Amino acid sequence: MCGIVGIVSDKPVSTRLMEGLRRLEYRGYDSAGIAVVNGRGIVRRRAPGKVLNLQNLLDGAPIDGNCGIAHTRWATHGRPNEQNAHPHQAGNVAIVHNGIIENFKSLRQEMANKGRVFATETDTEVIAHLIQDNMDEGLSGEDAFLAAVERLEGAYAVAALVGEANQTLYAARHGSPLVVGFGKGEMFVGSDAFALAPFTKRVLYLEEGDSAVVEIDSVRVRDEEGASVNREILTASISTVMAEKGNYRHFMEKEIHEQPEALARTMAAYIDPETDLPALGETAPLLKNADRLIAIACGTAFYAASVGKYWFEALAGVHVETDIASEFRYRTPALPQNGAALFISQSGETADTLAAMRYCNRAKVDTIGVLNTPESSIARETKTNLRTMAGPEIGVASTKAFTAQLAVLAMTAIGTASLRGRLSEAETQEHIRALQALPELVQKALATKAQCQAIAPILAKAKQTIFLGRGGYYPLALEGALKLKEITYLAAEGYAAGELKHGPIALIEEGTPVVVIAPNDPLIEKTVSNVEEVAARGAKVIAITDEAGAESFDTRAEHTIILPNLPGLTGPIVSAIPLQLLAYYTALELGTNLDQPRNLAKSVTVE
Ligand code: M6R
Repeated sequence: MCGIVGIVSDKPVSTRLMEGLRRLEYRGYDSAGIAVVNGRGIVRRRAPGKVLNLQNLLDGAPIDGNCGIAHTRWATHGRPNEQNAHPHQAGNVAIVHNGIIENFKSLRQEMANKGRVFATETDTEVIAHLIQDNMDEGLSGEDAFLAAVERLEGAYAVAALVGEANQTLYAARHGSPLVVGFGKGEMFVGSDAFALAPFTKRVLYLEEGDSAVVEIDSVRVRDEEGASVNREILTASISTVMAEKGNYRHFMEKEIHEQPEALARTMAAYIDPETDLPALGETAPLLKNADRLIAIACGTAFYAASVGKYWFEALAGVHVETDIASEFRYRTPALPQNGAALFISQSGETADTLAAMRYCNRAKVDTIGVLNTPESSIARETKTNLRTMAGPEIGVASTKAFTAQLAVLAMTAIGTASLRGRLSEAETQEHIRALQALPELVQKALATKAQCQAIAPILAKAKQTIFLGRGGYYPLALEGALKLKEITYLAAEGYAAGELKHGPIALIEEGTPVVVIAPNDPLIEKTVSNVEEVAARGAKVIAITDEAGAESFDTRAEHTIILPNLPGLTGPIVSAIPLQLLAYYTALELGTNLDQPRNLAKSVTVE
């Protein structure tokens, strides 16, 4: 959630710390702050709200030094104001933190009993006091930091300045990611390699329980036991160019338009060009022999998993259970004896999904990641990985990562069916060729833009919008509602079309917009019957269908968004596009902050 960046250099670091923060702002934007060590000791500036506010503050009251840390916050403990903004300081210690310190109350009480005065409502401030207290007891800066970190319970990534003239960064991770970057005459720490991309691509990922002492030209890493370890230095794959908005107004708009290319890249990675058959690499044996699959994720990624369930069951005949990670991890689930668990995540750092994956690893269930971030914790800890090639997704609302997840799941379901002899070679190739049409189909779906923009004012004015779908389009209805909620703050709910009459139909009143996702398939007439039911009660029906399905809606819908015909498994993937566009243009109409909607953050590293 929160973003951390630190630099120790032979030159001043403020400007680059701010650049790092701007790249990290997608992780949280409740407040931002910076602290540097210079001739006056540790000095800091903090501001509520966006990084821009901090920049304005610094422009008026600059600070600089050759060693510093900075933070952009997604508030957990304490209101998002200046007082609670990181870095937190106690004496000659400044600290930035991502995560939650679960035992902060008892530690805080202990420090207060020693006469230490707290200035914030946060769980983080206690870390600074613990370190300073250890130094007051006579420990060196390094030992004081390590002894403090040892006492923390919960999830954290921390970076600290310790001592009034010490040109060293201290860092530790437990549950939240942290990387160390190698530059020329300078070193970095960051929440992710993306934050450091303008400065260096040479990074090492701290592992669970690691701590690091980072100096201008070196890093010393210790593992959980305190033993010195060498972690591999990797070249991060993230391109800085890919993270620019270009000519688009928002990252979300750009990412929606990047989908044809993202899907082409993703599929190319899993199709054998000689045979047009799926190439699942080392994941193939896990899927071939599994008697049951579980698919676990959060938010949009969970809806991708839910579509995948329909495909795996229909094509490969494998029983699939889907679960929200935050429920799965605490409900003592009955795990498959001879099965495999799929973990779907854009960031690969979502705390609940990571915990669920570790639960399965401990239970010796084969774990498979479907991930967009190859260096992430989930990618490194799952037995095998299926990568989505969506490229960095910066907009908080997931768009291209979702369709890339669906493409990988479609490919995997087809591959599994083929491995189990449920699809002949010719049938498999037919399915794969249908998927290969995705970039073109999605390009055509993007042409519904003007129509979605014209419909947006209806949604913007409505008290609430209902989304309906059946089969593989039911999770799309949930995703359409989530997309609209998160960026417009309007009420929206998704339902299985057949479930409506069991309660939710009571929500329909004169003029309620009902978005129905129903391209032509064997269930379309059933969905159309449900449309009749809501239309009869005054709903304003907006149908998303394909050419073959358009006739079924005829005069029943007030607006019909017509996609090209959608062969094989392409339907739910292409149908996502108008849903994204409807949400995007409604938010534009309302003037909300599309890329950084209130209360949200891109990567949810707290539970
Ligand atoms: O990084 P992940 O895919 O694990 O993230 C899961 C959810 O937090 C994420 O999909 C969230 O629901 C998005 N904001 C939806 O647009």
